[in-house]
Amino acid sequence: MATRLLIVYASQTETGRARTLVDAAAAGAREEPGVDTVILRADAAGPDDLLACSGLLLVTPEHFGYMAGKLKDFFDRTYYPVEGRTVGLPYALMVSCGNDGRGTVSAVERIVAGYRWKAVAPPLRVIGAPSPAQLTEAHDLGLALATGLSLNAF
Ligand SMILES: Cc1cc2nc3c(=O)[nH]c(=O)nc-3n(C[C@H](O)[C@H](O)[C@H](O)COP(=O)(O)O)c2cc1C
Repeated sequence: MATRLLIVYASQTETGRARTLVDAAAAGAREEPGVDTVILRADAAGPDDLLACSGLLLVTPEHFGYMAGKLKDFFDRTYYPVEGRTVGLPYALMVSCGNDGRGTVSAVERIVAGYRWKAVAPPLRVIGAPSPAQLTEAHDLGLALATGLSLNAF
């Protein structure tokens, strides 16, 4: 199986803040030539995508103190089909929010504990429009994930 980093994201619009973070992270990940980086909207991603990836980056805005409904739906649709088959999958999380984001981080972490995925970076919370420095953080997170996957370091 090729080494694949899957980025699953929700964003209110294709030019939204979460999507901007996705693009920055993907640009970083694509600096690692040994890794195939695939971006999928949460509503287009399913169990087969999870089974085909070596690592995962989840990206969502915060909506009403929680993850976007489309990311929750992704979890709802994939949990039983992949149950026990993605244990230890390295993952990281980026949350775009207006003023908080912690509710989303804790909700995602609770769900991901059920899949038994392995966090390989601290969650990145970005409040407001991503600054150049925050886009660099997203870029570096993507690069770190891809490099770790390529080296089999996770
Ligand atoms: C329906 C809705 C609910 C929101 N609820 C919250 C919230 O509870 N906490 C927060 O910090 N931001 C909240 N926000 C703000 C978004 O999280 C923030 O604008 C985010 O950067 C949007 O990302 P996007 O442009 O990718 O959709 C909400 C936005 C929307 C549209």
